[in-house]
Amino acid sequence: MSEHGKKKRDQVATRRPEGEFDPEIRVLLADLSQEEGSLLRCLQRVQEHFGYVPDSSIGVIAELCNVSRAETFGVLTYYADLRTVPPAAILVRICGAEACQSVGSRELEVEWHNIQERSFTDASVETAEVFCLGNCALGPAAMINGELIGRVTPDVIAEHVTSLLAKS
Ligand code: FES
Repeated sequence: MSEHGKKKRDQVATRRPEGEFDPEIRVLLADLSQEEGSLLRCLQRVQEHFGYVPDSSIGVIAELCNVSRAETFGVLTYYADLRTVPPAAILVRICGAEACQSVGSRELEVEWHNIQERSFTDASVETAEVFCLGNCALGPAAMINGELIGRVTPDVIAEHVTSLLAKS
């Protein structure tokens, strides 16, 4: 199992009460779940709504999409963008795809992690890697709480994070 797979399995292992979100998810997926092959879109919709896919919702999503829990778990853990724990208040996503790597995204990520460890130690800031933000010509690219930033530097990320923390 890959590191990513282990991490996702460990995340899923933190269970919440079964059925906690079921009524809301039934309404949320009412129009979509009957469509064939809609499992991924259902998971994405749940994540858009809650910010993550609660692990306790795997059963109801499987039932609504008429697939097994194992298949639902497999899709949920396969896609890096799907998460089973709530995101931090500030989510910094740094592009690690090829075009951005060629203009220094790896170095950017290392420098940003150093700054984050020094200056943003509370749990309200989370950094994640993403593969292509569709901004390849302006790499390295990052997205901070949904805002796309091109030709980003560690200092620019720090400024944005500081500004968001000040508003929260
Ligand atoms: S490769 Fe980074 S935005 Fe496309």
